[in-house]
Amino acid sequence: MGLESSCDETAAAVVVFEAGHAYVASSIIASQIEAHAPYGGVVPEIAARAHVAIMDQTVLKALEQAQLGFTDLTGVAATAGPGLIGGVMVGLLTAKAIALAQGLPMVGVNHLEGHALSPRLEADVPFPYLLLLVSGGHCQLLAVKGVGDYQRLGSTIDDAVGEAFDKTAKILGLAYPGGPAVEHAAQSGDPKRFDLPRPLKGRPGCDFSFAGLKTAVARAAAILSPLSAQDINDMCASFQAAIGDVLVDRTRQAMASLPLPAEVPGRFVVAGGVAANETVRARLKELCDEQGWSFFAPALDYCGDNAAMIALAGAERLALGLSDGLGVHARSRWPLDGDAAHAAPKFKTGRKGPKV
Ligand code: KG4
Ligand code: ZN
Repeated sequence: MGLESSCDETAAAVVVFEAGHAYVASSIIASQIEAHAPYGGVVPEIAARAHVAIMDQTVLKALEQAQLGFTDLTGVAATAGPGLIGGVMVGLLTAKAIALAQGLPMVGVNHLEGHALSPRLEADVPFPYLLLLVSGGHCQLLAVKGVGDYQRLGSTIDDAVGEAFDKTAKILGLAYPGGPAVEHAAQSGDPKRFDLPRPLKGRPGCDFSFAGLKTAVARAAAILSPLSAQDINDMCASFQAAIGDVLVDRTRQAMASLPLPAEVPGRFVVAGGVAANETVRARLKELCDEQGWSFFAPALDYCGDNAAMIALAGAERLALGLSDGLGVHARSRWPLDGDAAHAAPKFKTGRKGPKV
């Protein structure tokens, strides 16, 4: 069983994991979008309280959907970070309670490892692969060499890509959360109308930057104000085209720099909430076709935050003999590649959001 509560989704899932293959027996996701919508973003204290209110029911629903009881479980995992600490504690303590009561092994999962392994929920995606992790708190390129073995190739130096979608939506007066709203508006827009910047495109390395793009959207919107519906659609399409160009450019760069032995075929995975975006997926698939790499992305249900990916990460760890005791603690920050994060931090402490 896996539990997830690091942001604004309360989720529980049961995954059957045998001989390296996963089967999702149940996946319950209760979103708190309505509670946060009036504030235009996630309010940590509201999130933590909402997780407390429904985590127990969510666990029971996941068992019911899987037609299993607590005694059928062979292990329990929960996101132990990174994320909003109050929320993380709710899922982690619930998992500890289940582990203690049932005498089960317990795994504190890195939420980012959940996203990194998420395509393995439904497809056979062998290690190693190149991962583009694009979510509300992250934008990173990583070499995934195995469970727990990650090498950061590049990362955003300012905003995360989902954050750029959310801020653009806010500037244009679109609904929260911004990603799906921007994607919907872009479908009726002209991607060539606004000449928005492509930050860091063509530069060496694999880092990203999105703050300048967001500012350019704000400037263009201020000049045009009041915006017509067509202006908004065109701006969203132009913004999405810029994001697509940047993601493709940085990924191409990572493909060239990845230390892959010649006999290993190139495999590319895009995961995280923004991987739900059809334009983003299509642009990256095109790049893979051009480079002769295989392309993988989780099904839409497993792009955004979910507990099936946490259950899978827990199961993969247990299969390798890796488990945590009940002493495992909640962490607001937890980089996947700790060595790179310490050697070359992209942010100074406290400057940026909790998932950094
Ligand atoms: O992975 P996720 O659910 O949570 C984090 O771990 O951050 O990602 C949420 C982010 C939000 O910024 C949301 O606006 C974005 O993913 N997102 C999208 C789409 N669906 C969700 N961005 C672009 N297009 C979408 N269709
Ligand atoms: Zn996430």
